[in-house]
Amino acid sequence: MRQGIEREAISTIVSEFGGKPELLVQILQAIVTRHGWVPEDAIRQLAFELNLSRADVYGVVNYYHDFRTEAPGKHIVKICQAEACQAMGSRALTAHAHESLGASFHETSDDVTLEPVYCLGNCACAPAIMIDNKTHGRVDASRFDSLVEGLRESG
Ligand code: FES
Repeated sequence: MRQGIEREAISTIVSEFGGKPELLVQILQAIVTRHGWVPEDAIRQLAFELNLSRADVYGVVNYYHDFRTEAPGKHIVKICQAEACQAMGSRALTAHAHESLGASFHETSDDVTLEPVYCLGNCACAPAIMIDNKTHGRVDASRFDSLVEGLRESG
């Protein structure tokens, strides 16, 4: 078995989408939903099974940041970068997050992966963040730090 996802799991997803190369984005979404990331050798396998070049598959993977090619940390922290949150300080919050985590977007530090997101549907409580699929509103730097600290304490 390779790190991450077994070959059979990828083949199963490809066949669920009828092996259609034009459904590559949906196939990648299914892989990320079920397994969290897209390893290098899965990209090679997809190119082979969908009869595409590796460059085609890489092109799509690189275009969408959600299709990460490295295993994510145990926790995913997303900071909203859309307009309402920007108006309420999400840029400063983002700068604080980079500094306090020691990670830029799409990077992982101490098992926490930092990602941008574009509207969490929580604009009334901007700036908003999402931690492991739970939304938090009106997050300032100190609340951010205590939420992340809570993550680390919970393991
Ligand atoms: S703009 Fe941030 S939650 Fe909508």
